[in-house]
Amino acid sequence: MCGIVGAIADRDVVPVLIEGLKRLEYRGYDSAGIAVVDGSDIRRVRRTGRVAEMEGAAGSEGFSATLGIGHTRWATHGGVTESNAHPHVSHGVALVHNGIIENHEQQRERLMAMGYAFESQTDTEVIAHLIHHYLQGGDDLLGALQRAVKELHGAYALAVVSRKEPGRMVCARMGCPLLIGLGEGENFVASDVSAILQATRRVIFLEEGDTAEVRRDGVQVFDGDDQPVLREEHLSDVSLSSLELGPYRHFMQKEIHEQPRALGDTMEAIIDAGVFEPTLFGKDAEAVLRGIEGVQILACGTSFYSGSVARYWIEAISGLPCSVEIASEYRYRTAVANPKHLVVTISQSGETLDTMEALKYAKSLGHEHTLSICNVPESAIPRASKLVFYTRAGAEIGVASTKAFTTQLVGLFALAATLAKLNGRLSEEKEAEYIEALRHLPGSVQHALNLEPQIALWSESFTPRHHALFLGRGVHYPIALEGALKLKEISYIHAEAYPAGELKHGPLALVDDAMPVVVIAPNDSLLEKVKSNMQEVRARGGELFVFTDADSNFSESEGVHVIRTPRHVGVLSPIVHTIPVQLLAYHTALARGTDVDKPRNLAKSVTVE
Ligand code: F6R
Repeated sequence: MCGIVGAIADRDVVPVLIEGLKRLEYRGYDSAGIAVVDGSDIRRVRRTGRVAEMEGAAGSEGFSATLGIGHTRWATHGGVTESNAHPHVSHGVALVHNGIIENHEQQRERLMAMGYAFESQTDTEVIAHLIHHYLQGGDDLLGALQRAVKELHGAYALAVVSRKEPGRMVCARMGCPLLIGLGEGENFVASDVSAILQATRRVIFLEEGDTAEVRRDGVQVFDGDDQPVLREEHLSDVSLSSLELGPYRHFMQKEIHEQPRALGDTMEAIIDAGVFEPTLFGKDAEAVLRGIEGVQILACGTSFYSGSVARYWIEAISGLPCSVEIASEYRYRTAVANPKHLVVTISQSGETLDTMEALKYAKSLGHEHTLSICNVPESAIPRASKLVFYTRAGAEIGVASTKAFTTQLVGLFALAATLAKLNGRLSEEKEAEYIEALRHLPGSVQHALNLEPQIALWSESFTPRHHALFLGRGVHYPIALEGALKLKEISYIHAEAYPAGELKHGPLALVDDAMPVVVIAPNDSLLEKVKSNMQEVRARGGELFVFTDADSNFSESEGVHVIRTPRHVGVLSPIVHTIPVQLLAYHTALARGTDVDKPRNLAKSVTVE
């Protein structure tokens, strides 16, 4: 979703801002803009569409300055127009904003009564006018920002410059991530470290309620009471190479192929220890996990599906009851909390607003024991959780989540095994068997990746279709759900997933010779049941595309296509069977010519409701 970058330096910062905005493109956006302090003036350029168009306009207008801010906008309040694009300006104050101001209508009325004229439909413009209002009252830029944010309800990350104060930019954070990048004689702000990696790896993460003043020669952070406060400096380990495409056509393709490495990195500590240790989830995890009597998982989208796989594992392996719920539903219902249950939030980005709010709601109900499974260090959700398992997938740029999903599954499997161990339900032999299964996992995933040419051929059958069904049973049912989500979000083919046994209770009516049916059918205890369900499809003329593994006794026949992974990998089979459905979606989207990495209407990090 929206992205922020800002810079103050002795050199021209316009290239820094443009490069930063390009690095933020993956998050999804529909317009972009920059504002710079040029002498005693604010100059601004905004465009709908790609950053490159805005860059062209800035170039032809000769933009150059040592202080400036930039933004990529994903429309929420007001359509995709140039006047709604950020930065917004009020009488020489320019500002960029991520988040949503809930009381913007009241503020707008109030400011209009004071004589302010609005030129956009955004919630953001009120903040620019509010800051100007306080500047008029005699505050300096920092003081005006600190007063203004106290009148805002909602979520914001803000970066602000003023033509009257060319020596600094100020910023604020509440509910949306914002960090400061520390350079030599130059400093930066950004909503995501990828925007400033070109300039520095040294970062300070702002905390909720913080404001800050950023000058060329230093930075001062203030807490929510406007008191100076020291925030720790971190060295970002996001690598620039993870932001480059390399030999691949799309980031999604690159990220699918990175999975053996990503899984290996994520399980490194487990494999090194050779056992499941509570410390995988934080140094004080044992005290928390030992008393746990159940698990409540909260997540959205693909992360919800990894939670859905985990429910099967946690109940079967640890014997603890486990529920999984979509975060945006949980946060608005009257839930019954059991404080002895562990609340697990799963989020690639660590920023998803619905998941964050569900976590806050769970805490307000009395849940103290919280664990975050997350791919982005220091992001909001792990920071708000007692325990953390960081997946080490590396930056995920494609909007459709791939390597984050499979690495989440590793973390969740480790959780199931660790809870089982603490409950005395994991024998030494079983533990050794699980560790061995993990050790072989990257190799098995590589075998599944090697099926790409066959899957690409299959995709030709999907390219002209309007609908597709995905079937799975048991722990592979969530993989069918994930396969359908991947196909719909990047190829725009309507796809639905069902537990195969549910077909005859309704969806079978949809099946005819125009409906391809993808079946996840590994050689497990439910295989014979799945085979019966496939007969039901075939008898109605449905064409079957079956992903299975060794020894499952499927043979190809008319209307039944089979792709087989080399061997059955036991309990980790859902991870291996994810690969073919990712590749099927990717190749179908490729053939349909969609924007694979930035599918329409979607954003990488969903920081609005
Ligand atoms: C789908 C996808 C989304 C995300 C969802 C949650 O491919 O990526 O469904 O999984 O928006 O995002 P995170 O995991 O960042 O909380």
